[in-house]
Amino acid sequence: MIKKIPIEELCVGMYVDSIDEKWIQTPFLLHHFSVTTQKQIAQIKELGIKHVHVDTDKSSHLKEVSEVGASNNLEDKSDKLNIQTLPYTQEELTKYYHDINLFTHIDRDTLIKGSFIDFSVYIKKDIKVHILQKYESKNIEITDLLLSTEGDIVIEKESTQKYRNYLKDLSETKSLNEPDKFKHIRQSIIRENSKILMHELLDDPRCGDKIKECRGSVEEIVDTIEKNGIVIKDLLTINKYDYYTYTHSVNVCVLSIGLALTLGTFTESEIHSIGMGALLHDIGKSSIPIEILNKPSMLNEKEYSIMRQHVLMANKILSEQKILLNEIYHPVMEHHEKLTGGGYPKGLKDRQIHPWGKLVSLIDAYDALTTARPYKRAFSPFEALSVIRQQLNDFDHTYFVNLVKILGSITD
Ligand SMILES: [Fe+2]
Repeated sequence: MIKKIPIEELCVGMYVDSIDEKWIQTPFLLHHFSVTTQKQIAQIKELGIKHVHVDTDKSSHLKEVSEVGASNNLEDKSDKLNIQTLPYTQEELTKYYHDINLFTHIDRDTLIKGSFIDFSVYIKKDIKVHILQKYESKNIEITDLLLSTEGDIVIEKESTQKYRNYLKDLSETKSLNEPDKFKHIRQSIIRENSKILMHELLDDPRCGDKIKECRGSVEEIVDTIEKNGIVIKDLLTINKYDYYTYTHSVNVCVLSIGLALTLGTFTESEIHSIGMGALLHDIGKSSIPIEILNKPSMLNEKEYSIMRQHVLMANKILSEQKILLNEIYHPVMEHHEKLTGGGYPKGLKDRQIHPWGKLVSLIDAYDALTTARPYKRAFSPFEALSVIRQQLNDFDHTYFVNLVKILGSITD
């Protein structure tokens, strides 16, 4: 029998059938597991989870569990639990929400050892940002020490044009001296420029010019994948340390285009629309308060319901760009729908969901799983696919099989 119990009643020996939160936000590879240590219970509590569903038939612990209705004021209780278990002080969090707005994440593979930059670089680890190399008047040489520092490399937002110039110079040098490497550098430049563009757009989501520029990014990505096959490693950002909406958006765009091209069932114009929809699918997150968007721990129920509004907010933002909304409606509005009807905002089922919506929903879930958060490590591609396989009724089977093929070619 499946029983829903408050987290306070969870004991070693119980078999957890599911947890009462959005499962992909948790660090657990599987959502069914036996509780074998107190550490697991502490970990679940730290995430702010307030209920779990246990299978009493599979539990070796025979303690009687209470029904859901037995607890009152659950929401208040969970809020308190969440605040109490956050490992950061309010002062640290305030600084983090301030800092995260001032910096842009860059991929360290574009920083080539022995080259020089004319902007400061910082390291972001967990919720702290500290200076790594300060630019004053002398150019900074990229060294092994700089490249091996643990954490995300970030730069001040006002340095992004200098970073673009650095990438441009790099591509010109490489194209002259090392033509074979130029292909990789070119792909990295497309990825980094797309990320910067998305970051700027999320800051100013009603900027028509930036939305038009997105078309250029999508065209470059489609063109690159068509020319090079689905070898798209250099177009993807591996989020080892933290989640950024702009890197996630570019990854979802690249993988969605890769999958759409592999399927071979879409026209050129449809592939561009899927790419645009995938790139802009989370634009509504620009309307979500930063304290929720970048919360360095799991969201509670109230916060999660605010976060879910990003889909409707995207509709509002993009409806101002009338032509665009028609073109990208399905990926944007349906990327959180599930074939079983358990998604949002409409709870659409199976054939009610457009193929473009199904495709972007699968890629969105995959990229979310392979991205780290301050409270959760990133899953490997294999682990992420295993997790999705456990939930396969929510996703299109053919798309899943083809995604496995694409990822096989990337990780080979
Ligand atoms: Fe989303």
